Amino acid sequence: MPLPFRHITSTKQFTREDTDAVLKVAEKMENVLAKGGSDLLKNKILAALFYEPSTRTRLSFETAMQRLGGQVITADGLQFSSMYKGETIEDTMMVVGQYADIIAMRHPEQGSADRAAAVCPVPFINAGDGPGQHPTQALLDLYTIRKERGSLDGLHIAMVGDLKFGRTVHSLSFLLGLYRDVRFTLIAPKELTMPPKVTSFFKEKNIVFAESENLEQGLGADVIYMTRVQKERFENKEEYERLKLKYVLKADHLRNRKITVLHPLPRVGEIATDVDPLPGAAYFRQVRNGVVMRMALLAMLLGKA
Ligand code: CP
Repeated sequence: MPLPFRHITSTKQFTREDTDAVLKVAEKMENVLAKGGSDLLKNKILAALFYEPSTRTRLSFETAMQRLGGQVITADGLQFSSMYKGETIEDTMMVVGQYADIIAMRHPEQGSADRAAAVCPVPFINAGDGPGQHPTQALLDLYTIRKERGSLDGLHIAMVGDLKFGRTVHSLSFLLGLYRDVRFTLIAPKELTMPPKVTSFFKEKNIVFAESENLEQGLGADVIYMTRVQKERFENKEEYERLKLKYVLKADHLRNRKITVLHPLPRVGEIATDVDPLPGAAYFRQVRNGVVMRMALLAMLLGKA
């Protein structure tokens, strides 16, 4: 089933039917990846524009395109692009769209993805717009949760850490909200609580959620989604230092519990390394799922799946 949109800027675009279709294509891509790849996207070019740091998103988009036989062109860091000279996001899209068949962009400004998609002459994917959205991360998170737990309906999800600036939890909340009887426990210091754009969505949809400052409140969940406190979004560095390690998940917290631990990564201390060997520690499997998910999205947006 083709997606009913040409660009991906936000998970709010997705219906449950759309996400189910994406999950199905991602599942098929597991076989393609296991065989080492295919030539499905031969002669197609992805432009990966990363104006903010990234390891996983950028490299998994590049891997996904190359595993499908396509090629990648890149631009890094605002200071090395013509945006530094004052070129607008809109002009950048009009230019890069002459070179590439599809564009993925990460940019520090919230809303930059909508501006880009409004003019982009080829399919556009938001690879993270400041504290706004990170839809492809949320789709791979959804895929990971279903793979780890066997289903998406009826789950209790605890989200922990920087829920204010953490774009991955914003995007994931909108997707999980499409599933039946999903409930949330939102654990954050009062300075970093989930923004109203998400909590008002929960209220509109009658989705059950509780807010707490206490990590223990999340330990009864099926999935605990840890996040990094986003240093780069703080104006007050002392506040960042005070909050950065408010929540540290340790193996002792998880003893005798069948809880799946996710994190979009990078982690900077929020999950102790003694969690890594536990069966529920799924964050490195989550990384691998990013490749099949991005293979699926590239193929679907280019009309090949
Ligand atoms: N999860 C994620 O977005 O990681 P990167 O910042 O390394 O791309």
